[in-house]
Amino acid sequence: MEKKVTKIGVLTSGGDSPGMNACIRAVVRTGLYHGLEMFGILRGFAGMVEDDIIPMESQSVANIIQRGGTILKTARCKEFYEPEGRKKAYQNLKKRGIDGLVIIGGDGSFRGAQIFSNEFDIPCIGLPGTIDKDIAGTDFTIGFDTAVNTAVEAIDKIRDTAEAHDRLFVIEVMGRDAGYIALHSGISTGAENILIPERKTVIEDIILQLAEKERRKKLVNIIVVAEGDEFGGADEVAKVITQRMPQQEVRVCILGHIQRGGSPSCMDRVIASRMGFHAVESLIEGRHNVFVGIVNNRMNYLPLDEAVKKRQRISEEWMNIVKILSS
Ligand code: F6P
Repeated sequence: MEKKVTKIGVLTSGGDSPGMNACIRAVVRTGLYHGLEMFGILRGFAGMVEDDIIPMESQSVANIIQRGGTILKTARCKEFYEPEGRKKAYQNLKKRGIDGLVIIGGDGSFRGAQIFSNEFDIPCIGLPGTIDKDIAGTDFTIGFDTAVNTAVEAIDKIRDTAEAHDRLFVIEVMGRDAGYIALHSGISTGAENILIPERKTVIEDIILQLAEKERRKKLVNIIVVAEGDEFGGADEVAKVITQRMPQQEVRVCILGHIQRGGSPSCMDRVIASRMGFHAVESLIEGRHNVFVGIVNNRMNYLPLDEAVKKRQRISEEWMNIVKILSS
């Protein structure tokens, strides 16, 4: 007979994302509704290794749904990636009787969860909490909507001043390995070029396009660059354009961590609440080691082993739209 879950630990891991608090709230309150004991693990896997674990009541998650960041704090923990670290973490959970884990984080966090769940008998549920939206098996990740809207607001403002001065702006958005923030913010602000890690950047093509636009007296241009673009980020792109086209007035703006903070959007609060609720329901139903996402507005369950191998892909259709609409 399947052992029933009685005590659940929840943690946030990797880069924080707006909506993580809404998700923690949903996990804790769903667990309490079912009569379970709930625990918050502080600083991600680090809190598991260092035994930084606190009981959570309904009141512990009051007034947090609208707050960015994560009340449980987060970290990228190297020790957890060593067998010794994971053993310590397991012992700390065991001594409290924690028999289910909800891990809210990005792909790196799921790799940790996957290894841990293959070694020890504590069922793990992974929820996608990352602004990067680079996780397969879900149409949404907690935080992406807020982050991309922060970027859009900033780029709109930059376009105003670009228009006023007839300038070219190279704007860097977050995304070390993924171009989703760049792609979505770029399309929705009418960016002339979008450079992402998933596609090779051919700077020669960009120079040719700019020269052609210059001939048409189209002097205002916005180039959105994902930080992980292999060409080297906004500074590098701007440097080469300035060398090749010294007559162009080029400015750089790196948006940075403002994209990670701030109050979560309605969309992020709703998906975080849904996912948190279903993570606990999954543990109660006896699901082991799965990643919970939303696909076509329905909950989608993927074994953690599979989830860590897959990546979201950016289709050619998106790139074609950018090309046609930005002329
Ligand atoms: O994974 C989320 C993310 O914001 C990436 O887009 C970015 O490259 C990275 O985290 C930055 O990490 P840190 O805040 O640790 O520098």
